Formats: sequence, structure tokens, C-alpha cells
Amino acid sequence: MTPALAVPRLENTLVEDHTREHHLLRQHLLHPAARIDSKYFYDDVGCELFTHICELDEYYPTRTEATILSHCGAEIAAVLPGCAQWIDLGCGDCSKSRKWLDKVQPSRLVGVDIAADFLQHSLAKIAISHPGVECIGVVSDFTQALELRDLLSEQPLSPPVFFYPGSSIGNFARAEALQLLRRIREHCGEHGKLLIGVDLIKSRDVLEAAYDDREGVTAAFNLNVLKVVNRELHADFLLENFRHDAVFNEFDSRIEMRLVSQKHHDVSLGAGSVRHFDQGESILTEYSYKYTPADFAAMLAEAGFSRHHYWTDAQHWFGVFLAEA
Ligand code: AVJ
Repeated sequence: MTPALAVPRLENTLVEDHTREHHLLRQHLLHPAARIDSKYFYDDVGCELFTHICELDEYYPTRTEATILSHCGAEIAAVLPGCAQWIDLGCGDCSKSRKWLDKVQPSRLVGVDIAADFLQHSLAKIAISHPGVECIGVVSDFTQALELRDLLSEQPLSPPVFFYPGSSIGNFARAEALQLLRRIREHCGEHGKLLIGVDLIKSRDVLEAAYDDREGVTAAFNLNVLKVVNRELHADFLLENFRHDAVFNEFDSRIEMRLVSQKHHDVSLGAGSVRHFDQGESILTEYSYKYTPADFAAMLAEAGFSRHHYWTDAQHWFGVFLAEA
């Protein structure tokens, strides 16, 4: 008899506190240095625009990382443990993990993401194409609180391999990034590993073009966050009153994305609050940190990883690290 198709197990550890989130979002906008957390980019339209960004000529990170992972895939797989618990942090549609399933044959795939419906759907497809892999979805904001130790301890003989691609670590300031790396390290035990993609410092022209493409897709992506805020707060931002801006801050080694007000005007932020914007005043929407290989290696060491392997592309534009406990 054939066993029934495994429905992926889903654990929801997300504590959604909308009132608190809305309060914070409003406070950040009322602050003299207005900002919007980058997590608000990713509504359905934002996710679609981000997919489009990844296909742009100017946006090299996704493509370059994919090239490294495919060119060096066999070498990387050779250093990865077999029968691992493969943990995809921010798995989305799981397309990046999918490529590894046949190469490393993990016992489990643990997909972690905030979007529950999407997660269930993506894992259900993997469960069908890879019936030998136990698929588990964890709905959580791991950037706030990564807690998978109970889950991982169910298979004490399978070492965890954390997969954190796409230079998503770049959205965090150094201290926060270090905190997340430490947290991952705590989950690794003696034999766990972390496979992580990191964007590297390069010429200003290349960096700035990647965040300000000719077609204006990144501009649309940035401006779309105002629609998300309108919906969340019952605010009344007009997109035409703002302009997309992306500059490389060399001193802090990060791309800074902003929305710049084009005129003096007032915006209602809901709950009776109004924010005045001067012409030229801006809202910070994203930092995207860039590293040197040595910088990032030092951070891995500081987080408690004792050694690592490193791969890059011919132009040294992107780095892939495999950190070992
Ligand atoms: C998803 C954070 C890796 O910083 O390059 C792309 C997001 N923002 N274009 C990045 C992004 C504008 C992206 N990360």
C-alpha cells in the first residue's frame, strides 16, 4: 500500500500584535528622522516587484549568488553533512533550497517564513516532489526571535544546516547581524553549519545602479511601501509626492534607500496624527550593508563559528560562506 501523501507540518510561532506594530510604524514616521521598516516592502505587489528586481540586468546579487552556488555546488555539497536538517531562513517559494535537496539529501526541510499561506503552499509542492524529505513549515519572524531548538532536537543525529541566501543579512546593522549569527550558532550544536550569501563592497556605480535601475522597478518597489503604510495605518500618502533615492554611503558601507518629499505637505497617519514633510525631507526605507570578505569572516568568528569555507565569483562581487561550529 502506498502511504498517504505527507501534508507538511506547520508550526506557527508568530506572535502578531497589530496594535503594537501600528503604533511603532506611526512613531517611526512621526520621528524627526522618519523611517519605515523594510519588512513593510513585502506585500503581494512588493514581492512581485522584488522578483522582478532579481531579474534586472543591474541587480547582480541574486544572479551572482546563483552562479557561485551552481559553479561551486559540488564542492559545497562535499563539505555539507548528509542526512541533515536543512533550515531555510526566509524560504519564500523554497526555490533556492529546492536546488540543494537532491545534492545533499537532507532528512528534513524546515522552511521558516512570516507568510503562512505562501509557506504552506511552497512546502506542499516540495513534499510531493521529494517524498523522502520531511517538510516542516515554521511561521515566525526569525529576525526577532529564532527558536527552533525543540524542533531540531527531535532528530538529534541529524545536524542542522542553516541556509540564509540572498544577502538578506545585509538589511541588518552590524550589531543586529551579529546577534542573529550568534543565535544561529547557538542552534548549531557541535556539528551544525551555516551556508550564507553576502554582498561585497564594489564600485559605487555598480552598487548604485543595482538599487536605482533604468526601468524604475526599484523605484516602484520603494514607493509601493507607501501604499502598504496607507493600508496599515489608514494613512493618505500620495506616491507622486515622493521620489526614490538610493546612495552608497561609503563610510558606513551600506546602500541607503529613501523616499524624498517633493514638496511641503502634510500626511495624515491615521489615529489623528499628522506628519508634515518639508520639500527635500526624506523617509529612510532600507539599509543594505556591503562587506569585505575579511569583515564578514571576522563577524562569523565573533559569533562563535570556529572556521569557514569561502567561495566567490570571478569579479569578487558576492561571497558565499559556509561557517562551521
Ligand atoms: C532582500 C535585502 C537582499 O538589500 O539587496 C533589493 C532588498 N532592496 N533592491 C537587498 C532590495 C532593493 C535586498 N535584500
